[in-house]
Amino acid sequence: MSVGLIASFLAYALQFAKPINDITNVLTQLQTALVSFERVFAIMDYEPEAAEGEDIHRLNVSRGEIEFKNVEFSYDKSLPLIKGLNLHIPAGSKVAVVGPTGAGKTTLVNLLMRFYDAQSGTITLDSQNIFQSSRESVRKSFGMVLQDTFLFNDTIRANIAYGKPEATDEEVENAAREAYAHSFIRKLPSGYDTVISADAQEFSAGQKQLITIARAMLVNAPVLILDEATSSVDTLTELRIQKAFNKMMKGKTSFVIAHRLSTIVDSDLIIVMDKGNVVQTGTHEQLLRSGGLYSEIYNSQFTR
Ligand SMILES: Nc1ncnc2c1ncn2[C@@H]1O[C@H](COP(=O)(O)OP(=O)(O)OP(=O)(O)O)[C@@H](O)[C@H]1O
Ligand SMILES: [Mg+2]
Repeated sequence: MSVGLIASFLAYALQFAKPINDITNVLTQLQTALVSFERVFAIMDYEPEAAEGEDIHRLNVSRGEIEFKNVEFSYDKSLPLIKGLNLHIPAGSKVAVVGPTGAGKTTLVNLLMRFYDAQSGTITLDSQNIFQSSRESVRKSFGMVLQDTFLFNDTIRANIAYGKPEATDEEVENAAREAYAHSFIRKLPSGYDTVISADAQEFSAGQKQLITIARAMLVNAPVLILDEATSSVDTLTELRIQKAFNKMMKGKTSFVIAHRLSTIVDSDLIIVMDKGNVVQTGTHEQLLRSGGLYSEIYNSQFTR
């Protein structure tokens, strides 16, 4: 074969392949466009949060007494989850919610914080219906550490001070100390001014939890909600944080959701949930004596 023949062969082969490549490129682009189209419309179809009037009631919490009355709720209307829930939580008590995965523990928190509104029934905080109070005032009444840690693309200082932007540097550091986050933050090259990226991959799961715990410590709200707040932290640090929380929550109402029962045995009231319903309530001793789901879960963790 002559050099000229090889060159023209290659030129023809390229010309022949180009349109095929172009078509496949356009096809992938089309697919991306279709998916984007669906997502854009999914967002446009969202129902906006119902608007609140200027004169809406603002929640005023002093004692922290909580009452659920006949609360019915489901995320999806065809799958009822919480049916006719009644609960009375006396002011100042330390309440624990336990139960298997998917039992509805986080759902209870979502309702309290008004991330979702119940389909029927009422929840009152100090005898004021939270569904008739402004969302902002409801959320200000709770300090919370949620199951999925949420950090913002900002400095550590701003992340901790999120619920109290006017906090001084000293207050932020004290909160971090109480949450046992101070020592690892101090070791970072820029300390409290380290900027956290949106996915915060440079921190371990436990460290992220400690930062969100410091955030809750700083706000010091009348009611505290901890949903698996220390699940990724080692047991010794967990114990110390627990002590700091106990000090902070003296005389205030707190909700603690935990799978490790060792952290909640001293609660004033333990609520056992299963499949969206409250199946047992009582103190640790009462529940162990009466048997049932609680003692099953407890024994699975402490006997071999
Ligand atoms: N945003 C949502 N949309 C639809 N269904 C949901 C949503 N969140 C939870 N669910 C469903 O509600 C049920 C209760 O979920 P929930 O998150 O309250 O469980 P949980 O008790 O907190 O469990 P875990 O111990 O795993 O945290 C589950 O069956 C779940 O599939
Ligand atoms: Mg949960």
